[in-house]
Amino acid sequence: MYIAKQKVKGKDYYYLRKSVREGKKVMSKNVAYLGKDKKEAELKSKEIIKEMKNEEQKSDLEKGVKISNEKRKANSGRICINSSSGKSQIKEISSLEKKEISIDEMAVFCKRKGFVYPSGEIYGGLAGFFDYGHLGVLLKRNFENLWRNFFLGLDENFAEIESSEIMPEKVFIASGHLKNFNDFAAKCKKGHIERADHLLEKNLKQRFEGLTSEQLFEKIKENKILCSICGSSIETVEVTNMMFPLQLGFGNSAKAFLRPETAQSPYVNFKIQSEVMRKKLPLGLALIGKAYRNELSPRNFLLRQRAFTQAELQIFFNPSKINEHEKFEEVKDYFLNVVLNDERSKGIQKIKCKDLLEKIPKFYVYHLAKVQQFYFNVLELSENKFRFYQLNEHEKAFYNKYHFDMEADLDAVGWTEIGGVHYRTDHDLKGHQEVSNENLSFFDEESKEKFIPHVLELSFGVDRNFYSILNFAYFYDKKRENLVLKLHPKLAPVKIAVFPLVKRPDFEKIAQDIFHDLKKMYHVVYDKSGSIGRRYARNDEVGTLFCITIDEDSLKKKEVTVRIRDSAEQVRIKIKDLKESLRKAIDEGEDILKFGKIVNTRKK
Ligand code: GAP
Repeated sequence: MYIAKQKVKGKDYYYLRKSVREGKKVMSKNVAYLGKDKKEAELKSKEIIKEMKNEEQKSDLEKGVKISNEKRKANSGRICINSSSGKSQIKEISSLEKKEISIDEMAVFCKRKGFVYPSGEIYGGLAGFFDYGHLGVLLKRNFENLWRNFFLGLDENFAEIESSEIMPEKVFIASGHLKNFNDFAAKCKKGHIERADHLLEKNLKQRFEGLTSEQLFEKIKENKILCSICGSSIETVEVTNMMFPLQLGFGNSAKAFLRPETAQSPYVNFKIQSEVMRKKLPLGLALIGKAYRNELSPRNFLLRQRAFTQAELQIFFNPSKINEHEKFEEVKDYFLNVVLNDERSKGIQKIKCKDLLEKIPKFYVYHLAKVQQFYFNVLELSENKFRFYQLNEHEKAFYNKYHFDMEADLDAVGWTEIGGVHYRTDHDLKGHQEVSNENLSFFDEESKEKFIPHVLELSFGVDRNFYSILNFAYFYDKKRENLVLKLHPKLAPVKIAVFPLVKRPDFEKIAQDIFHDLKKMYHVVYDKSGSIGRRYARNDEVGTLFCITIDEDSLKKKEVTVRIRDSAEQVRIKIKDLKESLRKAIDEGEDILKFGKIVNTRKK
């Protein structure tokens, strides 16, 4: 392939040409028009040749490489854009392949891209503490906002609060955390400490929740399990409380703790909020904030930290109405992915909500459906990557009557708890009423009953969800030879990148104008350093949805090239139509290709 210059009426026009054999003749054919500027034509031709090579490799790949069905299903290169109708437009882009990522690789990736990295690293960091950088914060906030919109939207009587992370000791006497929120420390002969249940899990590949320290010690001895650090024998299993105590002020000051779950804040706010809100149940109090736990062995990057974010919704309801929900009809035939505690041997079952009612109350099942819909319809998580796992009597948290963990199937560690649906009964409010001497009962105007409300808690670990989102978005494009972070458009931290093709003041002027205009709507970056290919790659890696290039035609024809992250397709759009086209594509799920002239389309 070569660049050819053609002179028409004294002006230069550049074309990319190719020699092709037709029968016995070798003909020269135009492949693409490269514009009127020599330098720009050279740059454009490189891009086009690279794309064409990618296309060739792709067809080789399609002919020769078979991806296993399982993998193909889980990893299909989909652009999932929520359309206004609520349905996704799903395109299969076969050149993207899901790339498995280990915990260490994830930690390196997150640091390299500035998403998340160890806190205070210049001083060596502290185990179990991480800081979110600029892109990390944007992605985390996008998740939190989707969570807010969805869960607060479930009922007019659901609202968000914010509260202190430091709470008086009495809160945790009332909640039972002071007595029951414990870890079990297995201590070896040489003094190394590890969580006893984790040590057993690692060696015996089963869960060990809900055992006493004596039972854990017995199991360790019975199975001759040794210290995983030095191989010496385990001498004791000790109980240790997981909360961080605090010294406030001087001398004999009041005792306080950093909250170990956000949940206690809505409970102590219930009285005032139920009075100022609509005096009606169900009442939902949501809180997104930090929780702190002195984990014995923080590990697995964001998955087990000592300070982490929770997004929790506490739904206070009338216990006599636990078998009712006015919107249950909407979900009755909806299938849930569940592992039931008495049918674990059957693995994940797809069970209709109405068929769970023999075992689980209606109010609870309705909210299981809503949580799953959040994952499937809002975050658009692949359906085989999510399940509810029901915990049994011994495994569930001390405050729960029913307890289903929400679990995601992560590359490195398999099924991992990312949240939970907890029926906490009146455990917490009753405890707070007893310890505070405040009357926390509620008078229901409708039924004329007075009672202590029960609580259904929808609890999400934001950092574990953040990790899962990155895990499922981690793709590789063999043709582009770079990572593509295939984030949901609503989650992508950067929606658009604007590039002048080359550093020319006239290109930069247009690029800057476009950048400033788009910045009013979305998070947009401006990037003028390096080749266009490098700039595309940099943006693909952080999940930027669209890259806009300003070139000679932007001056002459008032057009720009918009390139799509997942497919690398390009379309030329008039500058005057650009903002609205992008808005429709990002917010309403419309196909950007229809708003302009397609430059290169990948075979789908
Ligand atoms: N209010 C209920 C509650 O706190 P939990 O199961 O202890 O329940 C809820 O925690 C979620 O918080 C978990 O499902 C998990 O996603 C997240 N989480 C718990 N401990 C964590 C830790 N050490 N590091 C990161 N996330 C954690």
